[in-house]
Amino acid sequence: MNLIPEIEKYIREVHEFKAKNPEDLEQFRIRFLGKKGIVPEFFKQFKEVPPEQKKEFGQHINQLKQLVQERVNTLRHSLKKHQTKHHYTDLTLPGDPFVPGSRHPLSIVRNEIISIFSRIGFTVSEGPEIEDDTHVFSKLNFPPDHPARDMQDTFFIEKDPDGESRHDVLLRTHTSSVQVRVMENQKPPIRTISPGRVFRNEAISPRAHCIFHQIEGLYIDTDVSFAQLKQTLYYFSRAFFGPETNVRFRPSYFPFTEPSAEMDITCMLCGGKGCNVCKYTGWLEILGCGMVDPNVLEFNGIDSEKYTGFAFGMGIERIAMLKYQINDLRLYFENDLRFLEQFSADF
Ligand code: PHE
Repeated sequence: MNLIPEIEKYIREVHEFKAKNPEDLEQFRIRFLGKKGIVPEFFKQFKEVPPEQKKEFGQHINQLKQLVQERVNTLRHSLKKHQTKHHYTDLTLPGDPFVPGSRHPLSIVRNEIISIFSRIGFTVSEGPEIEDDTHVFSKLNFPPDHPARDMQDTFFIEKDPDGESRHDVLLRTHTSSVQVRVMENQKPPIRTISPGRVFRNEAISPRAHCIFHQIEGLYIDTDVSFAQLKQTLYYFSRAFFGPETNVRFRPSYFPFTEPSAEMDITCMLCGGKGCNVCKYTGWLEILGCGMVDPNVLEFNGIDSEKYTGFAFGMGIERIAMLKYQINDLRLYFENDLRFLEQFSADF
């Protein structure tokens, strides 16, 4: 018994087969490939085929099987194409629900801070994240051996062909570098804030990260006073944290300001009574500030006899943590939708 001519007949039939619709095609598929279909039936007969014909028979039956599969796939594809071509959408159906995204909490807070300062005339300036020693340290009155230049804090970028670490190319550790660039390019009066990403070589923990965001402010004009600095930051604190907010200033030190201070606000969780967030002091530290050191003005070509200025800087992560009561800094950078979906943006 030679089954080869019979298989060849089927092969021809498969080649010529055309499906009018998906049902047609499914019937064809079942007829050939279904459990009791033509192809499995042929396979069953394999053991009865004389040994000398087994090879040729096997090749033919495999060819038939493959062909049917290919034919089914191509016809299925072309039926689908055909279908979409003549398929008209029912325009009266309700639309698919549109899920709007929300802004990242750091963007919401940054935009709100910008909006508060722009109401009192501050412009926004930005600068590069990859900086040099001049703009991050030298022109801000950091002495050459200041610990903040240490490898512990600053990411230096290796640049030399011989692999030597070059200390003049680095990732900015604060956005005060942008203020240096503003002073280089603009004449007073200057009133600007610089939001941006900064980098410090710190171990990642719930309270610290090697990447974070700052907003720093700079105001230079004739007769700028510490009283104006206090009033500006008081205005900001009440606008951002609510009208009940009080502020207090504690003496501090920064190389680029003199005198320098740290500013605390009333703990908004306990209203100043004392709780575990404010460590029972009633106050929360939110920023550093001070009068621009005359050296900094002079380094940047501004006459320190004629002009004075104030500067301040805050971490956006910290402000957002206080606003939304977020207790782990790492949440900002993990892109977990369960976290991000909790923030709907007004800004
Ligand atoms: N640059 C300081 C920091 O990164 C913050 C600061 C800015 C302090 C301006 C005083 C004045 O911590």
